[in-house]
Amino acid sequence: MIILGINETSHDASVSLIKDGDILFAGHAERYSKNKNDWYNNSDIVLDALNYGTPDVISYYEKPFLKKSRIILHGGASDWKPDLPLDLPVRYFKHHYSHACAGYYTSKFTDAVIVVLDAIGEYNTSTIWVGEGENIKLKYKQNYPVSFGLFYSAFTKLIGLIPNQEEYIMMGMAAYGDWKRYYKEVDEYFPKHYQQKYNFHKGITDWGINISEQDKFDIAAAVQMVYEQRLNEFMRMAKSITGKNNLVFMGGCALNSSANTLLWNIFSDIWIMPNPGDAGSSLGAAAALYGKHINWKNPYLGHDLGGEYPVQKIVDGILKDGIVAVAIGRAEYGPRALGNRSILADPRDPLIKDKVNQIKQREQFRPFAPVVLAEHASKWFDMNFESPYMQYTVKCLQPEKIPSVVHADGTSRVQTVTKEQHYGLYRVLNKFYLKTGVPVLLNTSLNIKGQPLLNDKNDLVNWQNYYGHDILC
Ligand SMILES: [Fe+2]
Repeated sequence: MIILGINETSHDASVSLIKDGDILFAGHAERYSKNKNDWYNNSDIVLDALNYGTPDVISYYEKPFLKKSRIILHGGASDWKPDLPLDLPVRYFKHHYSHACAGYYTSKFTDAVIVVLDAIGEYNTSTIWVGEGENIKLKYKQNYPVSFGLFYSAFTKLIGLIPNQEEYIMMGMAAYGDWKRYYKEVDEYFPKHYQQKYNFHKGITDWGINISEQDKFDIAAAVQMVYEQRLNEFMRMAKSITGKNNLVFMGGCALNSSANTLLWNIFSDIWIMPNPGDAGSSLGAAAALYGKHINWKNPYLGHDLGGEYPVQKIVDGILKDGIVAVAIGRAEYGPRALGNRSILADPRDPLIKDKVNQIKQREQFRPFAPVVLAEHASKWFDMNFESPYMQYTVKCLQPEKIPSVVHADGTSRVQTVTKEQHYGLYRVLNKFYLKTGVPVLLNTSLNIKGQPLLNDKNDLVNWQNYYGHDILC
């Protein structure tokens, strides 16, 4: 049976196609419409998915009527009625259950606690599940308006960023702030033990203090600190009520790479699907209907540009110019560029950061991430686990050697690569290592400012015209 998973009418619409447990396609609507965080799917992405098979059934990532009832009761913006692209039977699964299935059924675990934390589903905002064999059972739930995600998003908005979209920028700003300055104020908005009474969906309406530019960084630091403390408490509770040592973490909160690292102090093994937010829930809904583990190989599941990874050209380009852009093969499913739609650069050059920032036209304070050969990761970064999808931020151990991929607080959001995960990128790193003694490159997303990752051939031409640089493909 071929299942078409659909997520839309929230931020980050997406489409997935699975057949008997194999993932045929998984992609983001925004990469086709070019509207960042697009709420809706479009005919281009659906047609691209249908190149890989003809579905028998649609699986939808939430319960529209349940969500509508919450919107009637509490307000909020959302189009409740999905506009499904094909005349097929439809099955609906709850929002948090789709998250849980996206995580557990793509994991290697057959025994785990599954924690889902996001802004809001229909009503659920924080859930704890147990996965045993092929069964997933709910153990704990917290409902709207108590919400980790809404807390973080409300402060994102308070400091002038776009909620549900620019939380990652606030997380980056935290490294430049003094968390102690506003800790007390922020902590009062999210009291201990989840007895949060405040409805963050309406934003922070009673802050009452003028916010200077420096305040924004200090507020970001306080929010990150409070979030990490509450997350730590919640995860310890999840472990104690389930007795499980393996964690599957899903929902938009699982994109907070600084906080994720702390979870290795609590659990012996962790799986965060590389697309843990709502965009991953088209795959989650499909997996929920399949009802068993699916065959997860890698996140290169979207639009296919074809081609062979241009290993030597990349290495030569970096050694000569310091920077190359590469777009090849299937697009990444998830928010990070992991080698197939990437700008790669020499991390040894302290000026390369400015050069990449110039190309990307983005804020100077934003950090750039390193990609490192997995077998060398622990010599360069303080980590004893893999991070193939850039999900953990750790201390850099040799910052003087790779200054362009180290954040203001001495940390880096690391991507580790093995031969099996991405053979082309692995070979690039190996060749660069043999030439320079450094098994690390800077890896950042290939996109025009304010737009999604490049997707198809037209995007490549537009990018080259816009920036005047070539893309290796
Ligand atoms: Fe969600």
